[in-house]
Amino acid sequence: MARIPVESASATQIVVEGRKLTGFGGCNYLGLAHHPEVLNAVRAGLDRFGLSTTASRETTGDTTSHDALERELAAFLQVQQCLVTPEGYSANLALGQALARDYRVAITDEKSHRSVSHAVAAAGMRVIAYPHLDARAAGALASEYVREGVVILTDGVFAADGSIAPARALFDALPKGRSILVIDDCHGFCVLGRSGRGTADHHGLTADGVPLDERVILTTSLAKGLGCYGGVLAGASSIIQVAQDMASVYRGTTPAPPAIIEGSRQALKVVAREPGLIQQLRTNTDRLRRGFQRLRISLYPTPAPIFTFITGDTPSMERIHRRLVEDGFLAPLIAYPGGPSDFYFRVTVNAMHTAEQIDGLVAAFGRAIDADPTVKSALASEPKPVRPDPRTENRGGGRELIGPWDLSLNSPFSPRLPAFPN
Ligand SMILES: Cc1ncc(COP(=O)(O)O)c(C=O)c1O
Repeated sequence: MARIPVESASATQIVVEGRKLTGFGGCNYLGLAHHPEVLNAVRAGLDRFGLSTTASRETTGDTTSHDALERELAAFLQVQQCLVTPEGYSANLALGQALARDYRVAITDEKSHRSVSHAVAAAGMRVIAYPHLDARAAGALASEYVREGVVILTDGVFAADGSIAPARALFDALPKGRSILVIDDCHGFCVLGRSGRGTADHHGLTADGVPLDERVILTTSLAKGLGCYGGVLAGASSIIQVAQDMASVYRGTTPAPPAIIEGSRQALKVVAREPGLIQQLRTNTDRLRRGFQRLRISLYPTPAPIFTFITGDTPSMERIHRRLVEDGFLAPLIAYPGGPSDFYFRVTVNAMHTAEQIDGLVAAFGRAIDADPTVKSALASEPKPVRPDPRTENRGGGRELIGPWDLSLNSPFSPRLPAFPN
């Protein structure tokens, strides 16, 4: 797909080439990128600080806003300490630099976001992929390498298929000894768990008054559920403080602008104050799921507001996509690793979509499918291919990643990997 340069946007509508479309893309899950209180906080922040700190935080670019956001996020996520970084990507890089000192092997879900494997590979760790969502395989590999210090890495919610990491099983699979679990929760933060605390909370790794275990570290972006910009590392001070003291990717960069950080602080207040927003996101997700199911579209079984699916071959999906645009809807058709096919629809719904907009999208999909006899008959006749249940799909084994840019998801897993080099 070519880029779609947006001329202006609200939480649910975008203007492209002068045409207003109802948008079902992006990751503005709660609509906070357009929340009036958040925008006002950013405006006030601009008046107070100007545009940029023009220096790294550890020299002269720190602000009381950055410090306050770190404290507020730590209280929200029930962790000892947080570190705010320029983006989610650099949060992973900074964590990789902090971990590499004590941990030499990273065991990562094969579909983890590339910033995750990039981070640990760039920090000089050996990186081994385990089959998607397979906690048993992750645990077996981790046990094999625990003497070197081992990190299990996973996304919380996988952006390309909406699946949710088995965070509790991964935690339970950590071998005794030098081992930790890292969850990149860019798509679970503000979406899953109590008040949007994320995937770890969704899986009961925190509860009221129960802090996150010190062997779990979270990273996330502030640019998705929170609708702002920046990244976060969250967890035990023994690791987060190392990132602050040593990670060059944090120490040597200009932070997200303080006005944006003020926006993030306000967005976090809104999330904590208005549980109805997350409830609305869940209601909208259910509504869109039921609509797609009426059209007999196969969906991955997940409560996440992410729907990735195919409706036929690439030319027919391009026809459907065009018809949707003609009908006034943008349902992104993307090529991105980790989805149900090389090329697929990735539709997201957010808390601001109205019932009419959601039903309108489903009706438009229905019309586009009806207008395409091959797609219509394929969807009508094909038995619904329920995606394999990860709990029964244990392929086991691991696959050594050849480098941070190893995007191949299909090469075989080998039951035994070469021994750790001395
Ligand atoms: C799972 C995951 N991790 C990290 C990132 C990087 O976050 P950021 O865009 O804030 O750099 C993204 C998305 O962009 C993501 O989806």
